[in-house]
Amino acid sequence: MPEVPGRRPGFFVVELDGTTIGTIQLDPQDPERPGNRLEAGETELGYLFLPEVWGYGYATEACTAALDWFADALPGEPVVLYTQTANVRSMRLAAKLGFSELERFTAYGAEQWFGVLHKIPGWQSAATSCKDRERPSATSVARTTTS
Ligand SMILES: CC(C)(COP(=O)(O)OP(=O)(O)OC[C@H]1O[C@@H](n2cnc3c(N)ncnc32)[C@H](O)[C@@H]1OP(=O)(O)O)[C@@H](O)C(=O)NCCC(=O)NCCS
Repeated sequence: MPEVPGRRPGFFVVELDGTTIGTIQLDPQDPERPGNRLEAGETELGYLFLPEVWGYGYATEACTAALDWFADALPGEPVVLYTQTANVRSMRLAAKLGFSELERFTAYGAEQWFGVLHKIPGWQSAATSCKDRERPSATSVARTTTS
């Protein structure tokens, strides 16, 4: 991963054995988003993985790598996350990554969860504790340059 972020903090492609299995975004918060909480942090985490690879811990591993990169590139900057409370997998992932709930609110006709992550030196996500569990193989996370 590069040491200096571009205008867009990060767009990452996650590969497993050479095949793309997901993407991770670290984007500026969208000022047009209904119910946005711009004051809590400028950068928002987003993630999308293929359903075939859910349940193996790849999202946790890859998001941890992306957040580690972000913490090195922009030390002390918080990262925020929006997800629907009905999205159980996403809620579990947010908790494992260390996000803390700031607020729940209704938008797009559903309850939304809003959380923040302040990484400090030596931070480790809950993902570390299950690293040695069996699964096909490890992911690689590459940041693409976009603006
Ligand atoms: C949200 C999303 C990324 C979560 O994917 P996921 O695979 O469930 O997430 P994780 O990587 O944390 O995997 C956790 C699961 O892997 C299991 N696992 C297996 N081996 C593991 C290992 N070695 N290490 C860690 N977890 C492991 C865990 O037990 C857990 O299983 P469970 O779901 O049965 O409890 C995925 O559902 C997704 O892409 N959804 C669509 C996009 C979306 O909803 N985005 C949210 C808005 S930003």
